[in-house]
Amino acid sequence: MRIVDLIDKKKNNSSLTFDEIQYIISSYVNGDIPDYQISAFLMAVYFNGMSQEETSFLTKSMIESGETIDLSFISGYKMDKHSTGGVGDKVSLIIAPIVASFGVPIAKMSGRGLGNTGGTIDKLESIPNFKVDLSKEEFAEVINKVGFSIISQTGNIVPADKKLYALRDVTGTVNSIPLIASSVMSKKIASGADGIILDVKFGKGAFMEDIGSAKLLAQSMINIASSFNKKVVALLTDMNQPLGRMVGNALEVKETLEVLSGNGEKRITDFCVEVAAYMLIMSNKYTDLNHAKVEVENSIQSGKAKDKFLEWVEAQGGDSEAIQNDAFYKGTKHTFFVRSKCSGYVESIDAAIIGHIAMISGAGRETKEDMIDYQAGIELNKLVGDVVQEDDVLMIIFSNKELNKQQLSHALEGYSIVNEPIEVRNLIFEVIQN
Ligand code: URA
Repeated sequence: MRIVDLIDKKKNNSSLTFDEIQYIISSYVNGDIPDYQISAFLMAVYFNGMSQEETSFLTKSMIESGETIDLSFISGYKMDKHSTGGVGDKVSLIIAPIVASFGVPIAKMSGRGLGNTGGTIDKLESIPNFKVDLSKEEFAEVINKVGFSIISQTGNIVPADKKLYALRDVTGTVNSIPLIASSVMSKKIASGADGIILDVKFGKGAFMEDIGSAKLLAQSMINIASSFNKKVVALLTDMNQPLGRMVGNALEVKETLEVLSGNGEKRITDFCVEVAAYMLIMSNKYTDLNHAKVEVENSIQSGKAKDKFLEWVEAQGGDSEAIQNDAFYKGTKHTFFVRSKCSGYVESIDAAIIGHIAMISGAGRETKEDMIDYQAGIELNKLVGDVVQEDDVLMIIFSNKELNKQQLSHALEGYSIVNEPIEVRNLIFEVIQN
């Protein structure tokens, strides 16, 4: 086989066989094919797409490029969750203790953030002494003791994705349904869970701007899952505003505790209740969604879910006392109040702008090497649908850096304020499953 012939084949919109795709992926990972030829191949996929069968072949080849995790040491139906990347997305931190409080184990590997979206691992590292790099044995011990664990990606899982994603990032080929679907699903399948819940976002700042493309992406991921006998529920969710009120690492831990204490903002609370309920249905704890939602609400109101979260923080070495203390969240030198220049109703909040401002305040990384300031971030004082009077505070930015006027007016541009009241919709627009 010659890579140039396979590039030509894809360029001419013909389908590739499993052997051909496997040859491309394994030769690239081994260093036998240079970046420039894979770049041409990725661009051909970007323009001509892949059939569902080719996408499953690609996923399988990517999984086979590295190790897979065997979760058979955990008894019961193991759940995992993936979000295609949101701003202020602390949902995994909230739903994992809820679901585990019902005896359903969660074994999750997460990543660090880059650019406008934050990473679950960065949020966890804002907790003093919290260990995200556990060995396989320690990971198993925490899951068996507490019921769930979230750690940073260990070992050599899907090395093909690490190389391909870095190349896609600099060749304009990220936004391709077969490439995103195979990238996400190879990691999820290699991580060994039985059931996976996917939060597929659409809107400004999401990989898919419109709901139609988000649906195609979700369907492609579900089809891949079916070819590996895995169960998937995909939620199509609105990203036309950040998730919750807090964006930033320690601030999102604070909001996690608020939701788990029953004092969280309504939309993110409702969202987490629904996601957790779907996970309980998938794992056969309940058969009726409304009943599962009531049980999830009970686990929050009774304090069971919050206790589970605090128990887990301790089990991974973190200081659970510190994060319950208000003083912990007030650590930045500067506080900037962004005020409205008009009255009206909040129509939308541009998650990409808010993510960008959070990043420049120190809460995120522009390049992989940047250091995170865990205390930095944004508190949104007004959310979609809220009434705003001129001069009201829309958001508070916490930073140890001095932000300039231009950056602060960019933050203001994140808010769209209109004269007419806005109907506040559920964040979940549609649910599809196999
Ligand atoms: N998340 C991933 O893991 N891969 C993609 O390609 C896009 C989002």
